[in-house]
Parts: sequence; structure tokens; C-alpha cells
Amino acid sequence: MMKRDGNLKSFWQDKTPLQPPISKTIYSKMHFDAIVIGGGITGVTTALMLQLAGKKCLILEANKIGFGTTAGTSAHLNSVLDTPYSDIIDKCGIEVAKKVAESALEAIQLIKRFVEEYQIECEFKEVKGYMYATDGQEEKELDKIYQSIKKVGLPTSYTSNIDAPIEFTKAIYFDQQARFNPLQYIQCLLDIYIRNGGRILENEPMQNVEEEEGNLKVVGQNFNFTAARVVHATHTYTGINKLNFKLGPYRSYVLAVKLQNSSDYPDGLIYDMQNPFHYLRKASDDSGDVLIVGGADHKTGQEENPHYRFKDLEAYVRKHFAVKSIRNTWSSQYYESTDALPYIGALSKENPKEFVATGFSGNGLIFGTLSAKIISDLILTGESPYSDIYAPLRNSPITGFKAFVNENANVVKRLIGDRFKKETMAELAALSRGEGKVVSYEEENLAIYKDESGKVYALDPVCKHAGCIVQWNNAEKSWDCPCHGARYSIDGLMLNGPARSPLDQIDLTENK
Ligand code: FES
Repeated sequence: MMKRDGNLKSFWQDKTPLQPPISKTIYSKMHFDAIVIGGGITGVTTALMLQLAGKKCLILEANKIGFGTTAGTSAHLNSVLDTPYSDIIDKCGIEVAKKVAESALEAIQLIKRFVEEYQIECEFKEVKGYMYATDGQEEKELDKIYQSIKKVGLPTSYTSNIDAPIEFTKAIYFDQQARFNPLQYIQCLLDIYIRNGGRILENEPMQNVEEEEGNLKVVGQNFNFTAARVVHATHTYTGINKLNFKLGPYRSYVLAVKLQNSSDYPDGLIYDMQNPFHYLRKASDDSGDVLIVGGADHKTGQEENPHYRFKDLEAYVRKHFAVKSIRNTWSSQYYESTDALPYIGALSKENPKEFVATGFSGNGLIFGTLSAKIISDLILTGESPYSDIYAPLRNSPITGFKAFVNENANVVKRLIGDRFKKETMAELAALSRGEGKVVSYEEENLAIYKDESGKVYALDPVCKHAGCIVQWNNAEKSWDCPCHGARYSIDGLMLNGPARSPLDQIDLTENK
């Protein structure tokens, strides 16, 4: 089975698991023009674009290629982004918002160009997007979004048909959106990358990047590479950086559903106006169409019972569709920046040779592809038409600053409040099989998980990133940090950055 950053398998992993091609031999002290850390759509596309331009590249992946959010997405390719353009205009101004719209369209066109040029079989299809309201309040919000979409130069119209059996009071549609299978897509990009001499190293976490005689030294347990440029395509920057404090981590939940009526599957991408909103699209498997339904988002590590989010989602889909069966359930992670735009470009003034791409909100495939374009342009030519609006070093607007304070007020509370929270041993004894909890044990806080056979795993719950206390995620059977989104497996291994090392394992027998 293809490994991923959670216990549940996504529809894409179930249907078309990735088979990374065999890379040329890699020696422990090699030099590269560029090392791209992270093997999702951002890293794979960036490395491919650089390799095709004649650079010697390495994709360095801590787990397996496609381990993270690329395999957990619902794979909407939308230029009408999850953050409404009305918000982007308010926070960043109309000129920036126009550029954002232009760049999102360019990302879809770049994917389309790859699909056509390399004849990639990934079910890519250009479709309409629809957004619908169900009451007066939502209609007002929809009108605002409609006006903002027009203002940024994207075509949109009101419509009386949303291509799905859902009752609504008002709706709009927008053209030039698309959908595809993300794993089939990056499988093909990887094949081209390898054919052009690119290299891949899996299951090797990067521990540090530092300057060395004009190059960057990239160090891990079993390697010591150098590179002229390093790209951090790890979804969020791993390690401590001020960017970690400008991002909020969120979980989103997805169902792949078989419907009773074959005519009920929508061809387009559909969004409601609830908070958090729901998103729908069609995909297919060997037996026909499948409905992919997402939503029920929440801040990572701040939901007592994540598993119930699947129930919310199921209730939503059953309200509107005659469901035959639930084929897959899974969740995945995304990061929102404080000013609505991702951070793409040079990491800092001090580190102009290191690049980062993060804060994609729910539009990781669009912004991941766009990041590949921006960062490869910056490395190859020194400039990009979009480098200013997405620059990691940009000043956040006032509203962004307010959001930044809110995110970090929350972090401080978790640091202080949870560290000293005490649980009783009775709770450990009462832990059901398959359940995890942070408890107090002989004056130590422990993250305890009891597996289905009754075996207990104990970890130090202090997150290796900046010291918050992790929380049990009963949907994905993981330990999730509420502060900046680091996630760990039941035995403490890293599933998500920004931490760079695993949780400490604790041998309970030694504590008796
Ligand atoms: Fe930053 Fe855990 S992710 S403290």
C-alpha cells in the first residue's frame, strides 16, 4: 500500500497508487544545481522544470513521493480560490488581487500544457465551477463574491442551474476550472523527470541546511550533499522560521461516495457558502462515477473528536444525494497565511539561495504548480512577474497582522495551558482499544495510544518544533500539534513538518 501521512487511504491512493521510477545512483556527497526537499506536486513540478532547463536536480523526500497532501487533496483546479477575491481585495488591494487571479489561471494552463504536451492520462478535464447560496445572508455574500470575481477579471455569471440535485436560492458559475487525478499526473511528471536525468532519494529526512563555501550544505543522517540552490517544498517550512508563525494549520475531510442515480454526479466543481464550506466534484473508478465531497475543516489539533467530522460530511451528502455506499474516507492538511496569500520565493534576505513555498490554503495544486513556475523562473532568470505579490518577505497588511496576533495568542494558550494539564491514571486504564490520549503518569505527561490488540505506545507529547503539546487525532490515528501543525504517527515518527525530529518514545516499564 502507498504510504501517506495518516491512517486512512485516499481515493487516489486506492485507485492509482504512485510507483516512483528508479532513480540513477546517488552518492552520499554529491553536488547538485538544485535540491528540492519534498516530493508532492510542488517539489516534483519544480524539479522537473529545472531539470528540463538543464539543471542537475535531486528530489529529497523524508517519506515516499506523494506521501503528503498531494495524495489527500480533492483535486479541484480552480482559479476562483478558496479565499474569496473580496477578501483578497480587502486585504491586499485590487491590483494584487488581479495578479492573483491571473497567476491562478496560469497555473491551470501550465497543468493543461503538461497534460497535452506529454499526453498525460490523468482524467484532466476543463469544467465550470458553481457556487450556490441557500438563504438571504448567503445570497448577500455570494453577490459580494460575484462582484469581486468580475473585478479581478475572471468571467462569471448568475445561473439557474448548478449541475447537481441541490436546492439553492441563488448561484453563480465561472469557466476555465478543471479537475484531474493528482497521483496519475505527478506519476507522469516523475517519469519525465527521471528520463531527463533527475534523481530522487526517498525515506531520507533532511536535518539541516547551512552555507558552505558559497554553496548550501544539505545534511541528513546518511548524506551530506551540496547544492547551489535549495527549494523547501515541504508544504510548510520545516524547522523554526518566522513563516511558521504566519501560518495556521487546518484539517479538511473528504469522502468518495457512490450514488444510486448515475445522473446525479455533477460534471463541474461545486461549492456551497457554509462555514466551513463544502466542495464537490466527480471522479471515476472501474465501476463508474464517484462523487468526491470535502469540507468540515477545523484547526489542526483543536478538535476533540475529528472522526465525527466524517459524520458531518456524510450527513451533508445524504441530505442532497441518494447514497449507495461510502467508498473512501480520509483527511488532509493545509496551511492558511495571515494575509490570504501564500509565501512563495526566497526564504529571506540572508538566505537568497533557499526558496520556500507554503501557505497554499485549500488550493495546493494551483499554488504548488504556480510555485514551481515562480521558483524555477527565479532560479533560472532571477525574476518572476509574481515574485512581489507572493514574496515570503512581504509586509503583511493590517488585517493580516490582526490574524497573526490571533493565531499566536492561540499558540501561547496551548503552550501554557496544556503543558501542565494533568490526567489521572484511571484514564489510562480506561483507554479503549484504538484510542489515544495525553495523560499524567508519575508526574510526567505522556501521549498514550492503545492499539487494537491492547498494546500501549507511550510518547513524550512535547512537540519537537517549539514545545506545544500534541493532541490525539482519532480520524487519522496520529498525534497532531495545535500550534503549527506538526503531526506524528503512533510511534512518534514525523508525518508533517514543521518539526524536524520524531517525538521521544517512552518505555513504560522503566517508569514503574
Ligand atoms: Fe510548532 Fe508543534 S508545530 S510547536
